[in-house]
Amino acid sequence: MADWAGFLGATMLWVKAAHIIFVIFLMAGLFMMPRFFVYHQQAMVGSDEDKKWIEREDRLRRIILNPSLVIVWIFGLMLAFNGNYWRETWFIAKLILVLALSGYHGWLIGYFKTLSKGERPLTEKQLRMLNEVPGVAAAIIVILAVVRP
Ligand code: HEM
Repeated sequence: MADWAGFLGATMLWVKAAHIIFVIFLMAGLFMMPRFFVYHQQAMVGSDEDKKWIEREDRLRRIILNPSLVIVWIFGLMLAFNGNYWRETWFIAKLILVLALSGYHGWLIGYFKTLSKGERPLTEKQLRMLNEVPGVAAAIIVILAVVRP
């Protein structure tokens, strides 16, 4: 079946382009947030620097992360219905990883709230290691979507 044979018709390619554009914004945010946390944790609780990082993280969350996640999901689900991929292994595997990535997103928002309250449960090293998670997940997701092994 040709890519454009679903209900979206030729518009499908535009939806796919939009999907990938917002995937890039989402990934940028997912890479930036833990970096911000590393710098944030070096600031003393209640200091001006602390407040500035809370403001930066809040804006990253509101302007980039949350809207991108919602838009990636909307376009991704449109593409899934369009291609009717629900029984295909590559798609099921992609869906599981994408759910895990969305869970990581949710965890980042939770950690932002923890930092805002003045708590610092993780060490800098742990935060830097966590930063590898979205990179590895994105690499596997792209291979699943493009190669469809
Ligand atoms: C959030 C839920 C997501 C859903 C439901 C979803 C669903 C889909 C579907 C069904 C397609 C195939 C379109 C087609 O060719 O018919 C697709 C394409 C693609 N997706 Fe996603 N996706 C999601 C998230 C992501 C994420 C997080 C990434 C990257 C990290 C990603 C990367 C891609 C890429 C690169 C393509 C293009 C593949 C190609 O046509 O060669 N997607 N997506």
